[in-house]
Amino acid sequence: MTNRTEAIVRDLLTAFNEVMDKHNITHDEYRAGVAFLTEAAEAGETTLLHDALLEASVVTHDNDGPQAQVLGPYYLPDAPILESGQLAGEEESGERVTLTGVVQDTSGNPLPNATLDIWQSDAEGRYSNFDEGTTPGNLRGKVVSGQDGSYSVHTVVPAPYQIPHAGPTGRVLEVLGRHPWRPAHIHMIVSADGYEPLTTQIYFEGDPYLDSDSVRAAKPELAFPLEDSSAGKTLTFNPVLDT
Ligand code: DHB
Ligand code: FE
Repeated sequence: MTNRTEAIVRDLLTAFNEVMDKHNITHDEYRAGVAFLTEAAEAGETTLLHDALLEASVVTHDNDGPQAQVLGPYYLPDAPILESGQLAGEEESGERVTLTGVVQDTSGNPLPNATLDIWQSDAEGRYSNFDEGTTPGNLRGKVVSGQDGSYSVHTVVPAPYQIPHAGPTGRVLEVLGRHPWRPAHIHMIVSADGYEPLTTQIYFEGDPYLDSDSVRAAKPELAFPLEDSSAGKTLTFNPVLDT
């Protein structure tokens, strides 16, 4: 074990023990806590529970830059490269939008050949491979920025999304008086040789849940307007990569 691991484990236990002492935790309550964690694991909510309650703090402290966001539980590696930039197929329902922008370094220089690995829910708030009624791999794909750093993705506007709340994670949110909604968002991991990968999410200006994201991730600086253009609705986002 490294010194850091030892220090963190010690502090975690100190913090837990302080809370237990402060509230005079009984044996019944202690067992209920252990049973709760077991139930969350058995319900397949281990990642959800931790991402929803804790991951936003990691993003804050990990110094990943102003555009960094939680990864969340629905990322899958190995999405295909979309040569056409068509993330949503013709038959996908929902409002069409072209997501576009220029990948840049922190000085504003365009970055060619950056990979944008994108995933999102559909217009009904469903993630492929996790929610019923979806096609595996749907709305997941990569695009590569051109020589001028620009990229363009054709997709549909996702819907605000309720994190699964019928199980243990939902009970915690209820205890905390928090609703399960996340504002509509599109996830991406942007990477380029020689730069730190950026895990981010972009949001839509005017979304009713921007101020009360159930996972405490959304922020107004990452909410962008849907703009009209001759090619339909456009959303512009310029990812910035640091070394
Ligand atoms: C979480 C993040 C998401 O992006 C999402 O769609 C659902 C849940 C989370 O952090 O728990
Ligand atoms: Fe998400």
